[in-house]
Amino acid sequence: MKLAIMGAMPEEIEPLLEFFGKYETVNYANNNYYVVNHKGNEIVIAYSKIGKVNSTIIACTMIQKFGCEKLLFSGVAGAVSPDLKVGDLVVATKLAQHDLDISAFGHPYGFVPEGSVYEEADAKLIEIAKDVASEKNIDLKDGIIVTGDQFVCDSERKNWIAKTFDASALEMEGASVAVTCNALNIPFFILRAISDAADMDASFSFDEFLETSAKISADFVIAMVEKIIND
Ligand code: ADE
Repeated sequence: MKLAIMGAMPEEIEPLLEFFGKYETVNYANNNYYVVNHKGNEIVIAYSKIGKVNSTIIACTMIQKFGCEKLLFSGVAGAVSPDLKVGDLVVATKLAQHDLDISAFGHPYGFVPEGSVYEEADAKLIEIAKDVASEKNIDLKDGIIVTGDQFVCDSERKNWIAKTFDASALEMEGASVAVTCNALNIPFFILRAISDAADMDASFSFDEFLETSAKISADFVIAMVEKIIND
């Protein structure tokens, strides 16, 4: 099995590299890929840099160049749902691009012709995550996660996103990874731990909790790896 695990920022993959310990570094197309041999399986780990374009390139490369058969994303997100607090884990059931807008032509937000507003995540990987959560007694939430090339730090924008997409959390890479994986028929899973509330205090909260929340998410993904490779 060849498994991809990606984040957007160094902090989001550092706990993974620390856990696996030994890896080969491959530089390709202006990005590093860390290749781990884990019990005869290849795990390719990379951070993409922030945003939809960068995350698309890295997801595509992990699949097309490295031959990864499944993709897990681990990172942090801003809470949209008031039920989500800093450190809470949320897995995406489906994802949409909140900044994709050709509504001038009568289309719904997040939609372009021949596409769809929502991209569904892989049900089997979500099931594995729920098994891990119940075994470890972790409160894993699920919901719609939305993505845009924008750090949201404004309650008005957040409330619009909540209402328009019924979203639980927002970030800057998940939906583009989802579009890529679905186009290439690769099962994917997007996990986020909350770092902020996407409100006026978001940038401070993000700086304060990026590392701890990123580790909560990465540790959960590590716990899923064994079950995925034995699946
Ligand atoms: N990732 C974590 N917090 C975020 C926010 N407020 N906006 C966009 N991406 C985020």
